[in-house]
Amino acid sequence: MLTFVPEEIEDYSIQHTSKLPDYLNDLMELTRATRDDSMMLSGPIEGTLLQLLVICTRAKRILEIGTFTGFSAQMMAAALPENGQIITCDIDQETSEIANEYFLKSEHGKKVEQKLGPALETMSGLEVGFDIIFIDADKENYSAYYERSLELLSDRGLIVIDNVLWGGRVLNPQDETDKAIASLNDHISTDSRVKHVMLPIRDGVMLVTRALN
Ligand SMILES: C[S@@+](CC[C@H](N)C(=O)[O-])C[C@H]1O[C@@H](n2cnc3c(N)ncnc32)[C@H](O)[C@@H]1O
Repeated sequence: MLTFVPEEIEDYSIQHTSKLPDYLNDLMELTRATRDDSMMLSGPIEGTLLQLLVICTRAKRILEIGTFTGFSAQMMAAALPENGQIITCDIDQETSEIANEYFLKSEHGKKVEQKLGPALETMSGLEVGFDIIFIDADKENYSAYYERSLELLSDRGLIVIDNVLWGGRVLNPQDETDKAIASLNDHISTDSRVKHVMLPIRDGVMLVTRALN
């Protein structure tokens, strides 16, 4: 699991975080058993953080960039009102099918719309008005996702960006992926359009909202 805190502290934090329903524990177990990229799961702490953000912002429309096996989408969907909607997109057909199987098992799955294809294409076809946009896909496109998200965000909306610490490599960026994340972090830090906070939770989570006038 990606985290900067010692394993015992991570475990203690999980023990003192709201428990997951059985079907989401099953989904995490299946993902870990069948996928060698299962570390991409956001996991119980970040998932529950997302859930609390949905509740506290009273979000009704959510966009997720990077479905994987659907864990984070499920967490957010469960916190949406009955008429809420989450659009989640991914390019990977196999993981999207696993996600779909588990959306069908959940009473909240009807709030989820899956889109298969490159996220920038999906985003270009969407209209403004998302209360939360969770960016958690290919890092090379993070800046493009951020800029498009600002266009799609509702007035008081929140952008949540995952992996902004990138295992610590942002401190000394070497390859293109390291540089893409570090450069977005620098850009956001000097972007007068927004108010933002970087949380050292898991692999780093950035919260961004429009600056108040
Ligand atoms: C870190 S995983 C998402 C994890 C998920 N949010 C969760 O918490 O379980 C990143 C996902 O982004 C997807 N992805 C990569 N490039 C993409 C692209 N250009 N457009 C859409 N999805 C992409 C990958 O297939 C992968 O499933």
